Amino acid sequence: MNLFEQQQNEFAGRHIGPNENETNAMLATIGIDTIKELISQTIPDAIRIKGDLPIPAAVSEYEYLGELRKVAAKNKVFKSYIGQGYYNTITPSVILRNVFENPGWYTQYTPYQAEIAQGRLESLLNFQTMVCDLTALPIANASLLDEATAAAEAMAMLFNHKNKDHDHITAPKFFVDEAVFAQTKEVLATRAAPIGVEIVTGNYSAAILDELYFGAIVQYPDSNGSVNDYREFIKQAHGVNAMVVMATDLLALTLLTPPGELGADVAIGSSQRFGVPMGFGGPHAAFFATTDEFKRNIPGRIIGVSIDAHGNRCLRMALQTREQHIRREKATSNICTAQALLSNMAAMFAVYHGANGLKNIAKRVSTLAQTLSDELNELGFENVNAYYFDTLKIAIENTAAIKAAAELREINFYYYDNHVGISVDETTSQKDILGILDVFVSYLNMDTASATFNSDDTLENIPFTLTRTSSFLQHPVFNTHHSESQMMRYIKFLETKDLSLNTSMISLGSCTMKLNAATELIPVSWPEFSLLHPFAPAAQTEGYRQIIKELENYLSIITGFAATSLQPNSGAQGEYAGLLAIRRYHASRGEAHRNVVLIPVSAHGTNPASAVMAGMKVVVTKCDEAGNIDVEDLKAKAAEHADDLAALMVTYPSTHGVFEESIRDICNSIHQYGGQVYMDGANMNAQVGLTSPGMIGADVCHLNLHKTFAIPHGGGGPGVGPICVAEQLVPFLPGHNFSGTEGAVSAAPYGSASILLISYAYIKLLGADGIRKATMFAILNANYMKARLEKYYKILYSGKNGTAAHEFIVDLRPFKASAGIEAEDVAKRLMDYGFHAPTLSFPVAGTLMIEPTESEDKAELDRFCDALIGIYHEIKSIETGDADKKDNVLKNAPHTQWVICGNEWTKPYTRELAAFPLPYIKESKFWPSVSRVNNTHGDRNLICTCEPVESYMEAAVPN
Ligand SMILES: Cc1ncc(COP(=O)(O)O)c(C=O)c1O
Repeated sequence: MNLFEQQQNEFAGRHIGPNENETNAMLATIGIDTIKELISQTIPDAIRIKGDLPIPAAVSEYEYLGELRKVAAKNKVFKSYIGQGYYNTITPSVILRNVFENPGWYTQYTPYQAEIAQGRLESLLNFQTMVCDLTALPIANASLLDEATAAAEAMAMLFNHKNKDHDHITAPKFFVDEAVFAQTKEVLATRAAPIGVEIVTGNYSAAILDELYFGAIVQYPDSNGSVNDYREFIKQAHGVNAMVVMATDLLALTLLTPPGELGADVAIGSSQRFGVPMGFGGPHAAFFATTDEFKRNIPGRIIGVSIDAHGNRCLRMALQTREQHIRREKATSNICTAQALLSNMAAMFAVYHGANGLKNIAKRVSTLAQTLSDELNELGFENVNAYYFDTLKIAIENTAAIKAAAELREINFYYYDNHVGISVDETTSQKDILGILDVFVSYLNMDTASATFNSDDTLENIPFTLTRTSSFLQHPVFNTHHSESQMMRYIKFLETKDLSLNTSMISLGSCTMKLNAATELIPVSWPEFSLLHPFAPAAQTEGYRQIIKELENYLSIITGFAATSLQPNSGAQGEYAGLLAIRRYHASRGEAHRNVVLIPVSAHGTNPASAVMAGMKVVVTKCDEAGNIDVEDLKAKAAEHADDLAALMVTYPSTHGVFEESIRDICNSIHQYGGQVYMDGANMNAQVGLTSPGMIGADVCHLNLHKTFAIPHGGGGPGVGPICVAEQLVPFLPGHNFSGTEGAVSAAPYGSASILLISYAYIKLLGADGIRKATMFAILNANYMKARLEKYYKILYSGKNGTAAHEFIVDLRPFKASAGIEAEDVAKRLMDYGFHAPTLSFPVAGTLMIEPTESEDKAELDRFCDALIGIYHEIKSIETGDADKKDNVLKNAPHTQWVICGNEWTKPYTRELAAFPLPYIKESKFWPSVSRVNNTHGDRNLICTCEPVESYMEAAVPN
């Protein structure tokens, strides 16, 4: 490569860890001469891509950002008053810089290893507390994917609660008020049909519910902006044992009587307007709060309080036995990745502003709405909402003329048939109100707009009977950090408790925690991308649509399929969307009865959970001794269910990290009976550029852009789970009411659109050659670690030539008998060595699954191997009796600074061994902030909000 070509391809060398010398040394350890040779020993020849993918060559980071500026300029940032669940918001700079743009927050993983995740766990607990306080419901989760899917989760939860026996559904009906947001209605319709829910849409004030209804949903304030009193409706519903969901707005709830006080059973909504930019649709955190009655039925992650091994307060994920990774097809939902990063931002917004700050924002917004309504009234326009918070619905004869006048002034409203909707927000100023009035003045051919602004906060637009009187956010955390110094330090205080990719590698198998490069992420904050409303007119979103189109095209090429939908906002949502496409395909051929999906026992928990959501019957197939799919069992079950066979769900390379040789044969045996093959693309990092789902014979796959395509994991989300499909499934991809089509699976047409930029950049910066090289190095890194570790540990499963794919499984089960050591002890001990544990006990209990990714260099891989080898010797000394069987470094791990520095030290090993077992740790020690977390204590004494203020007050009162 000449100097200029080198510059063009510079990013590959920055994204991929090992340099040439390291690569050679690593190959020597593996005992293979070249990477090419390693790849041909790993991926069966029959499914290897021979040439280059038709993807453009790499560009340099500098060039990319320059080009992207030009694309960004094609987006037009008009002032948006569209509303409908998406509002302008001011992201406080201290949160933007220290959370949203900070790898210490965005590169974290889901907090399964609670001892090194106390910071984000605290922030997520703040989120739950904020949601509980504002909705006046006692239990909330730590985010769902968007408002519309949260509504669907609520519907499913209430349906399952009322109809425990799915074979005898006694109450199939769900009432949907006509003034629920259109996108929510659409997703409810998608989600209702497969599980047997009958949706009845109407006006809540005229609805007559009976025993056939299990629930209902209303919007508060509704999609017209009207604030309605639902008390009577809720009473009516409860009278027939139906439960009520209120879709609501957190900012409005600072002024309005909260759902819990009105009698609602569930409150859902989006926390977007708490400091998270609209981003053309996402990502944003949805919330979900409910009564105690449903605490074991709630979907998604819940954070709870517990104690650690020394009785100190700590946090961890609670009630996990509801979740897909444990309950599989019986789980309360398929949620795995949620919206942790965005919940943290929303929680920080509440921490920063506090109750009074939030109330003041809400009052300003509502006062401006009232002024606007009054002034429009003066001009002769009628606001049809008698009561409203921030949204006016103005009757207008000629909406086209208003639209033209508004767009001329770079303003967007929401247009109903004969009405215009105007939602004001936190960013709206008095000048903006004059700007809006100017549109209407010009419509009337009048001269200039004027307004008399109220400065007091008498809000006649909010009915007396729905004015909030209860307090909220009284907890000290929402009343302490209001200066920027305090806020900056609070964010840092939490960040330092968490191990992120800016500390050390996070080798979680199946999760692909690769580099999330700064150049990929920076444009997400650019106003041309972050400020666009998802329902902005197409003429204003040309830049976005160009990127989306290109990205769809790249992903179709990479997967070997005909088309891609970027709408699903997590891998599990992709699974759901893919299975629905399969169901619709069968139905279109008069085979709607095909509902059996075969799922190997080794599959990820989201697979069976998604299948059930798609109304399918799960039939589990076996794996053989080597972890491969038991092909005979699979074929037998395919034959047994031939008439009803809808699909096989298969992960490739397998969840055991192996490219199964029989994959084509497996796909053929499903096709033979008319079934379709769904490939779970979580392991695409071992395929890109070398093979593809299309090539192995699958019909549809989802990709986790938050794994393979560099979107950071955000401590448990955001994510994007696009589906790519073969020709026959193209007509069944999700549509969206915004574009006049049906079958939406997410609230926004392109799901979490703003973070698509990251994957787009990843492909652009690496080019065809770089993305393939990344895959090759992912495989090299895994095989290097395997080669180093197999001298000490038994490695489960490998391909026919003894190589692993991009991940491999270390078997720790033998140590239980020999030393009383379990996989969890090793996971916790790794924290003392400065590392996050690999995936624990998935897909095989008692093991660790290591996936280094291509982004780690040899030195980091060596440190990790040294740590595991160090632990091996520690286990050996227990086996030989040199270390105590119960009181040893592993059982007592992790060791906190507080324990190590305590006055008393009674352990039979040294403090140095406990905290500094290897030399590299002395240079940079990461301290777990709590000792081993007691999970059962937390579930037995469930606390899912910040503890009551009194407990803090007691502590503060001097004796
Ligand atoms: C194999 C596999 N399938 C599906 C998923 C679900 O993806 P998501 O968490 O984005 O919903 C995961 C997530 O870790 C996975 O590892």
